[in-house]
Amino acid sequence: MQQICLFLILPWAVLGLEVIAPPSQQTLLGSTLLLPCTFRVENSQVISKFLAILWYFGDTEILRYDNKGKEIIHSRVTVDEKGFLQGNASITLSNVTISDEGTYRCLVIHSPSKQEKKISLKVQAVPGVHIIKKALIKQKEGSLQCLVTDYYPQAIKVTWLLNGNALTRSTSGSPRQNVDGTFRVNSSVTLLPSEIQDNMVIGCQVQHESYPRPLIDSFKVVYGVPPSVQMFSSKVEGHSETIFVCEASGFSPEPVQIKWLLNGMKVEEPRTSEGGGFIKRSYYWNPSGPGNQLANITCEAYHETLYQPVTETLQITKSYRHYYWTGVAILFILLVLLCSVISTSHQNFQVSHIHKLMLDDSEKVTLFCTASDCSKQPQVTWTVMEASETKSKGKRKVIWTENWQDKGSVPASLTQSGESDPLLNEEYTVRTDRLEVGRLLSVLSTLSFKPAVQKHKNIEVSCQFVCGWKKIEKKLKYSYILREPQVSQPIKLSINEAGDVLCSLVLQEFYPRQIRIRWSCGVGCYQDLESNTKINPCSSIQAFNAESECKIPGQLLKDPGFRMRMTWEHESMTGLEQQELSVQDKDFPWRPQMGEIINPDTLIPGTEGKFQCKIWGYFPDALEVKWLRREAGGQELFSVSPSEKYKIPEMEQKREADGTFSCTVSLIVSVSAITEKGAKFICRVGHPSLGEPLETSTGDFSLRRIPVIRSITHSNDKVTAEIDQFYPQDIELVWSRTKHRKTNKYVEYEASRISTESNSNSDGTYRIISSCDPKIYTFTHKHMKLRVEHEALETPIERTLIVKKELSSVKFFELQDGREIPLAESQQSNKKTQ
Ligand SMILES: *[C@@H]1O[C@H](CO)[C@@H](O)[C@H](O)[C@H]1NC(C)=O
Ligand SMILES: *[C@@H]1O[C@H](CO)[C@@H](O)[C@H](O)[C@H]1NC(C)=O
Ligand SMILES: *[C@@H]1O[C@H](CO)[C@@H](O)[C@H](O)[C@H]1NC(C)=O
Ligand SMILES: *[C@@H]1O[C@H](CO)[C@@H](O)[C@H](O)[C@H]1NC(C)=O
Repeated sequence: MQQICLFLILPWAVLGLEVIAPPSQQTLLGSTLLLPCTFRVENSQVISKFLAILWYFGDTEILRYDNKGKEIIHSRVTVDEKGFLQGNASITLSNVTISDEGTYRCLVIHSPSKQEKKISLKVQAVPGVHIIKKALIKQKEGSLQCLVTDYYPQAIKVTWLLNGNALTRSTSGSPRQNVDGTFRVNSSVTLLPSEIQDNMVIGCQVQHESYPRPLIDSFKVVYGVPPSVQMFSSKVEGHSETIFVCEASGFSPEPVQIKWLLNGMKVEEPRTSEGGGFIKRSYYWNPSGPGNQLANITCEAYHETLYQPVTETLQITKSYRHYYWTGVAILFILLVLLCSVISTSHQNFQVSHIHKLMLDDSEKVTLFCTASDCSKQPQVTWTVMEASETKSKGKRKVIWTENWQDKGSVPASLTQSGESDPLLNEEYTVRTDRLEVGRLLSVLSTLSFKPAVQKHKNIEVSCQFVCGWKKIEKKLKYSYILREPQVSQPIKLSINEAGDVLCSLVLQEFYPRQIRIRWSCGVGCYQDLESNTKINPCSSIQAFNAESECKIPGQLLKDPGFRMRMTWEHESMTGLEQQELSVQDKDFPWRPQMGEIINPDTLIPGTEGKFQCKIWGYFPDALEVKWLRREAGGQELFSVSPSEKYKIPEMEQKREADGTFSCTVSLIVSVSAITEKGAKFICRVGHPSLGEPLETSTGDFSLRRIPVIRSITHSNDKVTAEIDQFYPQDIELVWSRTKHRKTNKYVEYEASRISTESNSNSDGTYRIISSCDPKIYTFTHKHMKLRVEHEALETPIERTLIVKKELSSVKFFELQDGREIPLAESQQSNKKTQ
């Protein structure tokens, strides 16, 4: 404030200041809003040092700007500061919340004037409208709920519409406030059977100030029937598990969802599958533990006619204890029967379809059938019509007929009958359990048999229940179909940490489950290996998949003749089948790969040249590398062995993350222009996985060596230069001189003044000695130049000499960095003079 007071007492008289801002603003929750505020200074520009802008929300300062800079005290406020000097003091508020509602003040000071404008901000949020849609029950009062969510401000009007006409009977609860300040409210309506018909449209309409038009959610009336739920329990012949069956029936429309609870806790369903359109099954594996002998198992059926699920609980009594102790697991099965809507006014006796139990590890087929709500003792008869071998009529077999004895009052748990009764038939076993609820009996009967191809190719099974005078029979056609194991991929290999090879192969979609898998390996003769096979049911069809695995020490693969083999036998096949993989098969994944040979572009005679090649992706680490040499123009390959001329460093094989190996091999050659001219080096790689070794040859390389000026000497009046070690032989030497002392123009010497002598060195390089007779007169003073041109030189070498003759003495100098250095006298001339 002190600051502002200072402005106010400044003596300059600036005429009127006008601040313009709307009195009120309105925005939606979550939006980004501009709070506009502009100002004008009459007859003047805005002068920066007289200007201050302040914004307030209620009494809190949220922005302050003056000639010292700006300060924003609100995390969601942004400003465009450039606008301030042009009379724009607007601020932007982003992510508007309900708490942003209130009065904002924009205060502008342009000393000595000041003016303030108030903006009142209203925030709104548009409601969500959602009817909990459900099917209504015919002839019954129905209640519907409409959820109105996340709106602001609180005032709202909810109306129920029946074919567009308002219903007055609805009740709305009192709105509740959410943490972000928005409101929610529920409204419900009770519909009388007399006022609704099929296909009527029911709507929930909401009027709220945040939206110009009414918001409506609506749906068409659908009638449904809630499910009735019954639970059965049975032990399946040959299994330690107990099956629990929850049958929901008589409902419409689809679907019904069933959940299982064990002692009130949701049960995980590790596997669920659907089959046959109207059956759903779920299994529950209960970890057997001493605390579990007594339990309540509940089945909940959820349906769109219901707000709450229909539930049925079965109390497992002590008589079941032994299943928990001995059984690996409890197996739950749930059944949802989409029976057509049945009349409730008659006797409810009904019989389910025949269903097939899927038991993963069973060699047997188990079919079951349930009957419910019989007031008398139901009698069950299973009949099997086996396919006849002589194509005429099938053989009919009555497998089981049972009459229930009156057992008096049975507690609302289970009694079993099958356990003590002997089986009627060796091939077929039947077991029947019943549940008494009130005075009605429900029965679950299972038929198990071991299927055989001949007998059960096409059978018809019937299950007949007789309840008093009512007889219901259900039939099922069943075919025992063998499925042959399919193989879609070759044996798969991988390498483990320890360097062992894991082989695996998947057999798919075979039936029945029983399969014999064997792994073996070896060179020539095969030895059995320990293996591990996992069999899982297919999700889509009644069949199984087997994944089999075995481990082989990696070292064994070093033999090129090594093979691994998986064989399998199955009822669906006439003989054995097998899959093999050898180290040399095309499916063997770890063959060595070779890169190009890397070598210098130019080899310099008299030095060492290095050739390198990278090899990777191979397993096991049994790599053989050989270097070979092919002479210019020849075809024959010569082995390169370590010597003074060739060095072959030992290769270092590296294990990569995927278990394979890699290495870089190299050859170091002492280069000679004589031997290396036109020659090629070849790297040959052998590995157990390769039939023929891999080879890579060096690309073209050139041999070149830079000429070296060994000496420039003089003898008598001649200048001699010795140039050495160059390769190839072509070289050009140019001698030239200045004509006059002062010109820089060089003129070449005539050939007659030059003599050269060419030689070759033992390493194949060349040497040349060139002499020039510069023609010397008294008082000669001239510059001479020697230029050497050769393909190994990027730029020619030039040497500048000075020849001076005064009276009798001739002196030769070389010009180096501006200094004149006397040339040595050549040995030859010394000899001559001696
Ligand atoms: C506004 O909200 C969005 C999403 O919640 C967030 O990413 C953004 O950073 C917020 N902006 C400000 C200025 O707080
Ligand atoms: C004032 O500045 C804001 C940005 O802060 C801009 O969006 C608005 O259009 C400007 N108003 C005028 C009248 O220039
Ligand atoms: C409205 O009904 C829903 C679902 O029945 C419930 O979760 C919610 O708490 C209810 N809200 C109010 C405000 O009563
Ligand atoms: C099962 O339910 C009955 C009756 O509701 C209850 O008394 C009993 O304690 C329950 N048993 C278990 C193991 O939860």
